[in-house]
Amino acid sequence: MVPNRSISSTITAASLALILAGCVSETKTSMRNDSSQPDYVRGRYVYNAFCAECHDSGEGGAPTLDDTEAWESRSLGFPSLLTNHATEGFLNMPEKGAHTDLSDDAVRDAVQYMIREIARGE
Ligand code: HEC
Repeated sequence: MVPNRSISSTITAASLALILAGCVSETKTSMRNDSSQPDYVRGRYVYNAFCAECHDSGEGGAPTLDDTEAWESRSLGFPSLLTNHATEGFLNMPEKGAHTDLSDDAVRDAVQYMIREIARGE
């Protein structure tokens, strides 16, 4: 009797470990999916708070969101390139709009929001 009990508890422990492992990997996958999706609500917030000061007024030659022509020569079809320029800085565009405390994800969301707004104006 005793050996049997220990076998069944070994099996229970093993299947519990499998279930837990399944949960953990599922959580990781869904977290990765979340951060690869642009969060437009956050993007809009970040844009208004940190980017609009130049991109609404056109200050310093910043292309405004309603000026579709100003964006035609830029890489609108390549969001990751635009994000890279916004994050690292590009010509007169300062790194993260000079708000270096912003996270890379926050800047990425702001760029995605900008791209969506520019497309709306077309
Ligand atoms: C201090 C003013 C200023 C702020 C603040 C600012 N920008 Fe810019 N941005 C510019 C200027 C100027 C350009 C045009 C750069 C050039 O071509 O000389 C530009 C260009 C860009 C471009 C186009 C880059 C390309 O590849 O053509 C993107 C995207 C961009 N900004 C995103 C952002 C985001 C996102 C924020 C907020 C986190 C932001 N900017 C804040 C001034 C600013």
